[in-house]
Amino acid sequence: MARRRQIYEGKAKILYEGPEPGTLIQYFKDDATAFNAQKKGTINGKGVLNNRISEHIFTLLAGIGIPTHFIRRLNMREQLIRQVEIVPVEVVVRNVAAGSLSKRLGIEEGTPLPRTIIEYYFKDDALGDPMITDEHILAFGWASQEELHDMADMAIRVNDFMSGLFAGIGIRLIDFKLEFGRIWDNDYSRIILADEISPDGCRLWDMSTGEKLDKDRFRRDLGGEVEAYQEVARRLGLFPEGADSAVLDLETHRKRRGK
Ligand code: TMP
Repeated sequence: MARRRQIYEGKAKILYEGPEPGTLIQYFKDDATAFNAQKKGTINGKGVLNNRISEHIFTLLAGIGIPTHFIRRLNMREQLIRQVEIVPVEVVVRNVAAGSLSKRLGIEEGTPLPRTIIEYYFKDDALGDPMITDEHILAFGWASQEELHDMADMAIRVNDFMSGLFAGIGIRLIDFKLEFGRIWDNDYSRIILADEISPDGCRLWDMSTGEKLDKDRFRRDLGGEVEAYQEVARRLGLFPEGADSAVLDLETHRKRRGK
């Protein structure tokens, strides 16, 4: 069988040509990076968990009318997605002070914000994803006024939905990052949610203990990364009947056998 064509390799995912025009296959790796890839590592089984968690959340979001690139999951590490033109802007939504906001503004981590804050970052690894404002996005044409409005509107809807979803399973949604893409229909384009939603791009704190259930475990060398991601998946009702460890064991064996 001809090896399928790789379209793009990112830090945590690979995109391959899809089975039909306008589609791609999104493969979830176990690789983890932080601080613009200055810190690198692997979290065994992360790709399997993120594939499943992202599938779950994107499916629920589609159910409330948020258009997404997700079509269907293909296997443990791959999903079929719609090919989009990625908008080079990362949209960060914050409910509680943490991470770079706490650092930059000297606000203690865990302080609830007076209102939800949306921030924009220019998606450019060489520049270290600098923070930008809507002025930059419009001036440089990274998105139009209408697209920016659609992205902000969807980001707030995603935040409202996910805050409730996670609160229901004892998790505080502190902040998260979204990426959007453009799909073309003749001369018209529209914005849909792209990339992934997983503990890689969210801050998720246990409501009663404050324990971090996200990539900060890796960024801050706290250990227990897989266990934290597994706990998120478990509480979302994914991999039921303890199949999660079985699935991950199977993967490990397969890797050891070099398949
Ligand atoms: P920050 O506090 O480091 O700016 O991160 C805010 C949120 O965005 C956090 O949930 C992690 C996520 N994020 C990414 O997914 N990718 C990134 O490159 C950065 C900087 C943040």
